[in-house]
Parts: sequence; C-alpha cells; structure tokens
Amino acid sequence: MLVNKINREELYDLFQVVKLQSRNAFISKDNEVKIEQIIAYLEIIHSELRRVSKKRPLVLIDSGAGNCYLSYLVYYFYRHIENRPIQIFCIDNNERLMQLNRDLAKRMNFEGMSFYASDIEDFAMDGPVDVVYSLHACDTATDKSIYLGLRTKAKVILSVSCCQHSLSLKSQKLKAVIRHKAFRDKALMMISDSLRALLLEQMGYKVGIFDFVSSRYTEKNTMIRAKRTEFKKQIDFEQEYRQLSDEFGMQPFLETLIAEKKNHLK
Ligand SMILES: C[S@@+](CC[C@H](N)C(=O)[O-])C[C@H]1O[C@@H](n2cnc3c(N)ncnc32)[C@H](O)[C@@H]1O
Repeated sequence: MLVNKINREELYDLFQVVKLQSRNAFISKDNEVKIEQIIAYLEIIHSELRRVSKKRPLVLIDSGAGNCYLSYLVYYFYRHIENRPIQIFCIDNNERLMQLNRDLAKRMNFEGMSFYASDIEDFAMDGPVDVVYSLHACDTATDKSIYLGLRTKAKVILSVSCCQHSLSLKSQKLKAVIRHKAFRDKALMMISDSLRALLLEQMGYKVGIFDFVSSRYTEKNTMIRAKRTEFKKQIDFEQEYRQLSDEFGMQPFLETLIAEKKNHLK
C-alpha cells in the first residue's frame, strides 16, 4: 500500500502548508475525512500509473479542482517521493480559488502545477493526457469532466460524483422504493453512474465502478474508473443504455455533450 510507503508523518508539512492541518498538528474532523479521501484517491491513480515509463512526464488534469488538495498530494507524491516529472492542470470556474492556488503552488515551488479559472467545458490543451480526474465536481461538472477525458483521449478517466441536482428519477416499478429519500438518492446515483459507464463503454473505454474509500469518510464514495484499452465488446452498450435511460427517464448531461460534439471525438 502506498500509504505505508509514503509514511503519513512525511505529509504533515504538506498538509500544514495547504491548510489541511494546523501548525500544532491539529486536524479537524472535516479535514481528516478529506485526507482519507485524497490518500485513497492517490492509491487509485498510482495503481494506473505505476507502470508508465519514468522517462516522460506524467500529464494529469484535475477538473473541478476547488482547493486542489488532491492535486497537491498527487504532485508531491510523484515529484518528491517517486522523483518523476509531472504536470498537473487544475481547472475550476472559481477565479478566486484558482488565484489562491497559483500563489500557493508558487510558494511551494510546485512549478509543474498550473491553474485555469474556467468552465471545464472551455478548457483546451494539446498533447497526450494520462489521467483526467475529478473528486466531487458538482452536478453536471462530473459529466463535463468525463467528457474532457474523452475529448483529450485520456488513457484513464476517474470520477467521483457529488450532488446531481439536474437529474431526477422516475419509475413506476420502483415507486415504493424511491419514495424513501435515502433509497432515492442511492438509486439515482447508481443509475446515473451506470448510464455514464455505458456511454464510456460505447466510446471504447473499459469501465469499473467501485467504492474508492470507506463510506465512513464520505457517502459519496463511488468511483467510475474508465480505461482506454482494447477489449472485446460482448454487450450491446447502446441498447442497454437506451433501455436503462427510458426505464428511469434519466439522461445524464454526458449524453448531450457526446451527441452535440461527436465530431470532436474522432
Ligand atoms: C465540491 S467542490 C470539490 C472540490 C475538490 N475537487 C475537492 O474534492 O475538494 C466542486 C468544485 O467544482 C467547481 N465547479 C463546479 N462546476 C464547475 C464547472 N462547470 N467548471 C469548472 N469548475 C466547476 C466548483 O467551483 C467547486 O470548486
């Protein structure tokens, strides 16, 4: 496990500078939960990148980056522990946050990190991308992030969705189940992420969905991992998508993005 290799004490300085931890080593409950999430997320990223040649820089995109805690940890791990070149592009439409992070990264000499105050949809770059990742990007930002992965032909796309205000669930068959809020939220998350997975599979990605961290640290702990790889399609993903979407009257924004911009994906 990475966490053993890292040795958490080694991370205390980093956590203090990025304000996940106070100077007297106090970590608030909220920050403790965030730390567990970002360490678990880094484990997944590293399991995808550990075999990538060390001769070339890794290229990663964090979309809906917010305070960029995850990206600081990822950068620190690769640059200072693995000693390998890395570039991380952080995108968030909150200009103030991106400026704060620009200043912070400069103070830490994390020169391979850059910050873009823009909508995820408007971000553009050239060249190969290893991973596009998002952690709790709000609502349709999750779809935009996955689409950015498709658009940049990222080798790996990782996404953990958050609130999904623009989606609702309609089902006569499950009426008695989704009447209960807790079940409605769970069903909505399962169906929306399954639909996103089917869209990714149609685009040639191999998809896995799993809990990336214990639900003790967040209820929003479901990760979609999509890898661009050759695999034999034994399932009619298009037909499954249509059936599921019709059954529950649900269309994630990713469907619209792919349909509107199909030419950009060729
Ligand atoms: C809940 S925060 C998560 C931040 C960070 N990934 C984390 O886990 O701490 C979601 C972030 O997504 C950003 N965001 C939401 N929609 C966006 C969009 N369409 N384009 C860029 N950023 C967006 C928000 O400004 C916010 O900082």
